[in-house]
Amino acid sequence: ASTEPVVRRRVLLAKPRGYCAGVDRAVQAVEKALEQYGAPIYVRKQIVHNVHVVKTLEERGAIFVDETDEVPEDAIVVFSAHGVAPVVHDEAAALKLRTIDATCPLVTKVHKEAVRFAKDDYDILLIGHQGHPEVIGTTGEAPAHIQLVDGPSDVANVEVRDPEKIVWLSQTTLSVDETNETVDALRERFPLLQSPPSDDICYATQNRQTAIKEIAAESDVVIVVGSRNSSNSKRLVEVAKDYGAKTAHLVDYAAEIDPAWLEGALTVGVSSGASAPEILVEGVVDFLAQHGFTDVQEIESVREKMIFALPHELRRDLRA
Ligand code: F3S
Repeated sequence: ASTEPVVRRRVLLAKPRGYCAGVDRAVQAVEKALEQYGAPIYVRKQIVHNVHVVKTLEERGAIFVDETDEVPEDAIVVFSAHGVAPVVHDEAAALKLRTIDATCPLVTKVHKEAVRFAKDDYDILLIGHQGHPEVIGTTGEAPAHIQLVDGPSDVANVEVRDPEKIVWLSQTTLSVDETNETVDALRERFPLLQSPPSDDICYATQNRQTAIKEIAAESDVVIVVGSRNSSNSKRLVEVAKDYGAKTAHLVDYAAEIDPAWLEGALTVGVSSGASAPEILVEGVVDFLAQHGFTDVQEIESVREKMIFALPHELRRDLRA
């Protein structure tokens, strides 16, 4: 008999991971719209930032466009989970489009905060990533009052009218730790800076970061399932590295895993961004099993129960 010790290679699955309530609602909105009204259903921008989701919906008859003026008159267009500026609603109305707004309610909450502070004539410092659709949508609520602060290094560029009347808000999918750093740096320059009335970084982003922190230190490699343009997925990779994973990688599909990443590893951590479907995580777990990582343990750090109702325009028609 062999005297070789049996090495059990394991997988630690972070929980919660994957779909948040806002993504689930947005994807379902397109699916139900396809069932209810028939193809094609137009979608402005990627409904959620995931290659697989977009491809699957395209196969079922969704047509993704960049701007509303690419949608033919009287057609139905769905606005993505990231939200849109009010001007986009106006454009759609002018073009006589039927709209279904799949903006996540937690993004809408930030829009409302922006409107309220702008009405009170505050300068609003929006912490977020330049060019992200959510930031573009939120800024569109009050362009004259909002300026973007893209991380701690951007704080020096901020200029305000009255340092006693400023508030910070944020994109919903940022790193909690980095946002705290940015706020600290802002507060050093502007001690009277006010905070948002409640957390803008959403529960799902926070919970996925908490969960990955718990498995990171024990993992030789962390694999996050998510697309390159998914903000919250990219943050998970950074958080995993910051909290002790030797390396961390973002992949859309299991096939992107380079077996060389697994050489010498005993523990692989796995998580997925808020826009990544579970079937892709299953693919990664299967791939790892084929490479000897057969002992799978799920580590749950927070229990999630959030569900959002479908957009009201759609619910009304589904009821009728
Ligand atoms: Fe909404 Fe947060 Fe998901 S803002 S879409 S619940 S990542």
